[in-house]
Amino acid sequence: MKVTIVGAGAVGASCAEYVAIKDFADEVVLIDIKEGFAEGKAMDLMQCSSLNGFDSTITGTTGDYTKTANSDIAVITSGIPRKPGMTREELISTNAGIVKMVAENLVKHSPNVTLIVVSNPMDTMAYLAAKVSGLPKNRVIGMGGALDSARFKYNLAQAMNCPTSEVSAMVIGGHSDTGMVPLIEKATRNSLPVSEFLDADKQAEIVEATKVGGATLTKLLGTSAWYAPGAAVSEMVKAIALDTKKIFPCSCLLDGQYGLEDICIGVPAVIGKNGIEEILEVELSDAEKEKMKSSAEAVRKTNGLL
Ligand code: LAC
Repeated sequence: MKVTIVGAGAVGASCAEYVAIKDFADEVVLIDIKEGFAEGKAMDLMQCSSLNGFDSTITGTTGDYTKTANSDIAVITSGIPRKPGMTREELISTNAGIVKMVAENLVKHSPNVTLIVVSNPMDTMAYLAAKVSGLPKNRVIGMGGALDSARFKYNLAQAMNCPTSEVSAMVIGGHSDTGMVPLIEKATRNSLPVSEFLDADKQAEIVEATKVGGATLTKLLGTSAWYAPGAAVSEMVKAIALDTKKIFPCSCLLDGQYGLEDICIGVPAVIGKNGIEEILEVELSDAEKEKMKSSAEAVRKTNGLL
């Protein structure tokens, strides 16, 4: 199992670290355009192998895509992160060119790869990668919902004063401050609806905090977050590598599901060795349907800037 991670910045390096620690890949390749940077990150991470007890090998390269050849999975984290006060959508003019170039180079050397797109604005970048790569639509996945759902679960667990392992919850829709659709009506604590524990005001507060989860961290950190994004991607990589068939909300190219076509947006999907194995069309309430519709309109508007 060979995994390439494009971009050795905070999210890419965090993803490489979690993939290595989970120890399911033989080979992890980090690639970056900054001279020596990916090589340095790879060396630093490999020096953890005896400490953290993993056998995966991590190598780094400055822009040499031949080193990524025959990757099974490639994660695209390259591009610029947002600064406090910026929306993810404002990154499009810089990141679109980078993601296009990266996706083309990856597919040239790994024609059977599955791409996971993390660069922002993520849904639009996933759409772009799906179009330029020529890969079948099940092999291009956008990572947003796994992260947003992890933040949602954490916020719910905090409010209910319980461990996150008791919470099951999902965020669908676009990976943006206004587009996320946290499915609070379906969220549970140990199979009980969260409404058993939280009143309507508290639920609404959690939904809003989840939607701006990334922006809150960007304000605190001065740049966008990396631990949870890296961990979320590594779980998706693992699901493909080990063919676990776990459900992740993630950005998928739709052809009619949820009444949407020719758009990448967050929906629940079964992830396994073929990438997106199945898109699940869950029953949404009228309010959830309405939110999903306006989220899709916003993603289409950003796609129009490509
Ligand atoms: C975030 C970035 C990765 O939400 O979009 O932290």
